[in-house]
Amino acid sequence: MENTEKLLEIAKEAAYEAGEIQLSFLGKNKKIEFKSSDSDLVTEADRQSEQKIMSILSANFPGHDIFGEETGCHREHDSEYLWIIDPLDGTTNFTHNFPHFAVSIGLVKNEKIILGVVYDPCKNELFWAAEGTGAYLNSDPISTSKTDRLKSALLATGFAPGNPDSLEENLVYFKEFIHRGQALRRPGAAALDLCYVACGRLDAFWELNLSPWDVTAGTCIVRQAGGRVTNFDSEEFDPYARNILATNTFLHDSMKEVLDSCKNHTG
Ligand code: IPD
Ligand code: CA
Ligand code: CA
Repeated sequence: MENTEKLLEIAKEAAYEAGEIQLSFLGKNKKIEFKSSDSDLVTEADRQSEQKIMSILSANFPGHDIFGEETGCHREHDSEYLWIIDPLDGTTNFTHNFPHFAVSIGLVKNEKIILGVVYDPCKNELFWAAEGTGAYLNSDPISTSKTDRLKSALLATGFAPGNPDSLEENLVYFKEFIHRGQALRRPGAAALDLCYVACGRLDAFWELNLSPWDVTAGTCIVRQAGGRVTNFDSEEFDPYARNILATNTFLHDSMKEVLDSCKNHTG
């Protein structure tokens, strides 16, 4: 059994190192390539960050499995520990020098999310949590907001590339929540959207078609901050299920009701 402090220490070290790499590319040529579509980007910084994180994790935890966005690997694994990494969440922001992106490092043990570290290098904000620790921003404890009315809530979503059906579906939710909430944002880095729910800057976040590397770390942080994370149609959360609803807990049922009513409306 691994020691939580050591797991956190190494995950934070890896996040800081990857963040340094990303800052070193800001304002320079980022060597952009396209993956599934014109809006699905990868850069040299994504790749170098993933390499750095993987080398730090595997040097310290040689028996653990690692699932990184850019190198990929099978969901099947031999170790009870699986690190799930998005080396650079918010690559589109990054390529425009829009200072809102992050490193996201989550850890799953026997299919349960037990740790998350998300680092925004532009703001030097490190969000972190592990099972039973509570959630933190740098060294300060954080907690979700107390907002219990949608009309008072600041909401966020995103539009994952590569799936026109889920884009159209989310536009229906987007339109509805613009009317129902106080205001709606699309910041462009799902891992940070989750951390912003965790620290009360946002009251709720939903998105379709995300991948496990976008949401694993942030889910741990939201939960440890007192929030709730589920899939749209379940009381549990499966990070492979490709939709997510994260709230301050108080808004969870109202958010779900709106999502359900839109679904019923669109068939
Ligand atoms: C993207 C960001 C974005 C979200 C997309 C993700 P990437 O991740 O999290 O906010 O809307 O769905 O794909 O590609 O920049 O790692
Ligand atoms: Ca991502
Ligand atoms: Ca990424």
